[in-house]
Amino acid sequence: MDIIVRPTAGEVGEYAADIIEPFVRAGATLGLATGSTPNPTYIELARRHREEGLSFANCDAFLLDEYVGLEREDEQSYYATIRREFTNHIDIDDAKVQSLDGRTDDPEAEARSYEDRIRAAGGVDVQILGVGANGHIAFNEPPSALDSRTRRIDLHPTTVADNARFLDNEEQVPRQALTQGVGTIMEAHTIVLIATGANKADAVRALVEGPVTPGCPASVLQNHPRTTVVLDEEAASQLRR
Ligand code: F6R
Repeated sequence: MDIIVRPTAGEVGEYAADIIEPFVRAGATLGLATGSTPNPTYIELARRHREEGLSFANCDAFLLDEYVGLEREDEQSYYATIRREFTNHIDIDDAKVQSLDGRTDDPEAEARSYEDRIRAAGGVDVQILGVGANGHIAFNEPPSALDSRTRRIDLHPTTVADNARFLDNEEQVPRQALTQGVGTIMEAHTIVLIATGANKADAVRALVEGPVTPGCPASVLQNHPRTTVVLDEEAASQLRR
């Protein structure tokens, strides 16, 4: 894996956008993360659309995960979040922005159908990832099998606490999610993992320098042939090598 360190989160976003732009020009299938980390990247890609004519018209997109039980219209759903933060600001066809249905009464069938839809699209060409402070990617909480597939999962208490910042209080954070599996994510052709801020420094050290282990699901990216980890100085601060 390639490790890139930039001074600020804004410059991290620009670097990540530079990796993603050629995929957009080629009409790629994009894998989109939600959460706060990718927002500078999304802001920069939307700026390139607005000011430089970068078109997403030939792209399609798959989200990584979704909370169980939230309506699409709920502003905390990842369906609504990715539109608000990114895809409403570019020219991608909204019908081509696909996500898991958190209201399904048959999570297993929904998970299978999602894997089928990704496969039918030819797989994800470039996957944008964040990382949880506990080493999760998407909502693959530790321990997660490194060959796991899309499924329903209980959120770790630390993830519930971390995500409470988006809501009025912790009680409102859903306790379950549907998530692409670690094995599913590993099938993406190219991966860009972004981490910014001191609260990610321990997870970054474990994912880059620690053993490849279900205890840190992000560590599996050490085995992915085309992964770039883009960090700000704070997130890189615990790296030894
Ligand atoms: C979101 C996702 C999560 C986040 C991670 C970091 O779709 O899959 O794995 O990437 O929880 O979240 P932030 O970026 O908010 O720190």
